[in-house]
Amino acid sequence: MLLPAEIEQLEEDFRLIFLWKERDPEATILENASDILAIISSLRPVRRTMIEALPNLEIIANCAVGFDNIDMRAAKERGVAVTNTPDVLTDDTADVGFLLMLDVARRAVEGDAYVRAGLWKNGPLPLGVSLSGKRVGIVGLGRIGRALARRAEGFAMDIVYHGPREKTDVSYRYYADLKEMAGDVDFLVLTCPGGASTHHMIDYEVLCSLGDKSFLVNIARGSVVVQDDLLMALSNEMIAGAGLDVYDSEPDVPRELFSMDNVVLTPHIGSATFETRTKMGQIVVDNVRAHFEGLPLLTPVGI
Ligand code: GLV
Repeated sequence: MLLPAEIEQLEEDFRLIFLWKERDPEATILENASDILAIISSLRPVRRTMIEALPNLEIIANCAVGFDNIDMRAAKERGVAVTNTPDVLTDDTADVGFLLMLDVARRAVEGDAYVRAGLWKNGPLPLGVSLSGKRVGIVGLGRIGRALARRAEGFAMDIVYHGPREKTDVSYRYYADLKEMAGDVDFLVLTCPGGASTHHMIDYEVLCSLGDKSFLVNIARGSVVVQDDLLMALSNEMIAGAGLDVYDSEPDVPRELFSMDNVVLTPHIGSATFETRTKMGQIVVDNVRAHFEGLPLLTPVGI
């Protein structure tokens, strides 16, 4: 969500309602329904019912690059503008993808717990696996996927990708078939958008193809993976491990994952740095201001 400096900017021109501070957010929305002109959201759902309950709603400014949390059809039908915060979070999010790859392959988090628990004197940590010279398969070679690929190049990794169509401006091998790519890679990294087009793309069959020597990293959305299939694949060691930043019902994370050594879990921190969240907040402020001043939006999105 927005940091104090960006909230202050908005407070100069608008009356703000902070729904997360309200004991009964739904009642607050209904009490203020006709005064609400804008919604500022991030990952929480903005459903049709909310959009339709606000007769004067003009804009939804999402503080995230993804906007699968918003019912875009309902927004379109009502003529409500929607904006996101692309570009400024690309590098930080790719960093988190790479840190999850490194962490899970080199057992960094497990090693930290090992040292803290005083277990080192009993013997060394089991060996990890190298990244250098391995193959990474990127699902969704958009801005974040490309930034992850650049990082992988620095680690002398072989880069391949899957997506809806082949790109003409990269030399990485393209796989039209996700299952085939999963069978050929050491790391399968999800950087695609959420939403209907990628829903449950990673299922039991893809995880079987990935196999017990390879890792899954998800910095996209929990909805891209069939979570129960992933839990089964991890607990049966059908795959080597997983680095996860996103989950099905955040902030609820399946408890089964807590006791697994072959997973590294972060709490959806792709863009969670002071620098990037400041830039994201400023884009939100600038979009809202532009809208009410009748100027073009900076980063509109649509369907
Ligand atoms: C975070 O997940 C984003 O979409 O910005």
